[in-house]
Amino acid sequence: MAGTQQLSELSFATSNENKFQEAERILSNLGIKLNFFKTTLEEMQSNNLSDIAEQKAINAYKLVQKSVIIEDDGLFIDSLNGFPGPYSSYVYDTIGNNGIMNLLADSKIRDAKFVSIIAYCDGDYGVKLFESSIPGKISSSIEKGGWGYDPIFIPDGESKTYANVYDKDKFSHRAASLTKFSNWFLGKQKDNGQ
Ligand code: IMP
Repeated sequence: MAGTQQLSELSFATSNENKFQEAERILSNLGIKLNFFKTTLEEMQSNNLSDIAEQKAINAYKLVQKSVIIEDDGLFIDSLNGFPGPYSSYVYDTIGNNGIMNLLADSKIRDAKFVSIIAYCDGDYGVKLFESSIPGKISSSIEKGGWGYDPIFIPDGESKTYANVYDKDKFSHRAASLTKFSNWFLGKQKDNGQ
């Protein structure tokens, strides 16, 4: 943000460069400098996104040894009872967007939500979770562009998918959870006189 002092630095542990680039942009606008700690973190199997995020943040802190965030996301599709949810990464790698389209081929109800959990970990505060979700719909066809599920997720209020909306950062699940996180993180820095 023009004129905003860079207040603090922290690392984002992830293997996903797209996630990092979006998070770096969003947090830099909020006054936080994000460093890329590129790594593939071990993920526990669970039906609960928060449990996965918490465990990932602990694993990340063991590696980075400094203030670190990780992110865990899930695409929850109403007519599939929330599938793929916590299994979104595995489902994307196996059946992908084509597979989701096939699963919804006969479905007129295409409501879904994208959930993001940012998990912060450091030596003083332990793990803190910041969760947000954005409601939307699964598109009727796969659009071009974007990454991951971008080409099939239309956020509410838009006519295009994440892949083609004008400014995904304005209303993405990631922007929402990172904004919650930054409010807490910058508040904590202020309280500590930093
Ligand atoms: P993860 O387990 O947190 O890496 O994310 C679950 C799945 O959702 C992965 O396949 C990601 O690529 C995908 N994903 C997460 N965020 C986005 C996004 O903003 N756009 C498209 N796909 C995403």
